Amino acid sequence: MIGIVSGSGLGALADAVEIEREVPFLEAGLPISSVPGHAGAFVFGKLAGRSVLLMKGRLHLYEGYDARQVTAGIRWMVAQGINKLILTNAAGTMNNAFAPGTWMMLSDHLNLTATSPLAGADFTDMSVAYDAACRADFRTAAIVSGMTLHEGVYAGLRGPQYETPAEIRMLQSMGADAVGMSTVLETIQARSLKIPVVAFSCLTNWAAGLTGAHLDHKGVLETGRQAADEMASLLKQVLGEKR
Ligand code: 6GU
Repeated sequence: MIGIVSGSGLGALADAVEIEREVPFLEAGLPISSVPGHAGAFVFGKLAGRSVLLMKGRLHLYEGYDARQVTAGIRWMVAQGINKLILTNAAGTMNNAFAPGTWMMLSDHLNLTATSPLAGADFTDMSVAYDAACRADFRTAAIVSGMTLHEGVYAGLRGPQYETPAEIRMLQSMGADAVGMSTVLETIQARSLKIPVVAFSCLTNWAAGLTGAHLDHKGVLETGRQAADEMASLLKQVLGEKR
């Protein structure tokens, strides 16, 4: 079974799933997510004939949850038997070649949340955080379908405020291509449980200072909704051909 986490405005991914059973976050022992655009349920179902467990919406540090709470859904999905994890998020782009409205597959990340879901002597190897074989499959599928799929480094911050132009320049100098407020802790949790991870950022807007434009959460959600269809077809394509 494949686990999928859909982020801000990407609920349309859920519409692509043939629903068999829904489990609200509360029933799975998770606190309810409070941010608009995040539904808050697990969906067991089929996508392109494959069994999937979709986490609709997620918990964030900026809502006041700690790193263990933010990753409780990942542990729950692993307990349900997922053996692969696909994460999606909405992110700002700071790579001039990666335009808003396109997708970026994560080649790596910077965990800048100053926290971790792991504790004790769990020295999880993060040298290949995002699975190379999975990434190759998605790269090929994107080429075949003519979809633009960038690859780059995601910087995960706590938020909730967006970054300043100076912070964006700092992140660029650190090698980041996109910036968001999720994903990195979930990846760390999954890797500690030996689950292969692949992750995608829907690049919804330019990060601060790169254009004159101001950022707002509504615009982020709207761009996400439009790009979700494209990701739904890519997922169907890859899941449908790989057995
Ligand atoms: Cl510009 N920054 C962060 N932290 N998260 C975002 C974003 C920017 N755009 C969408 N999500």
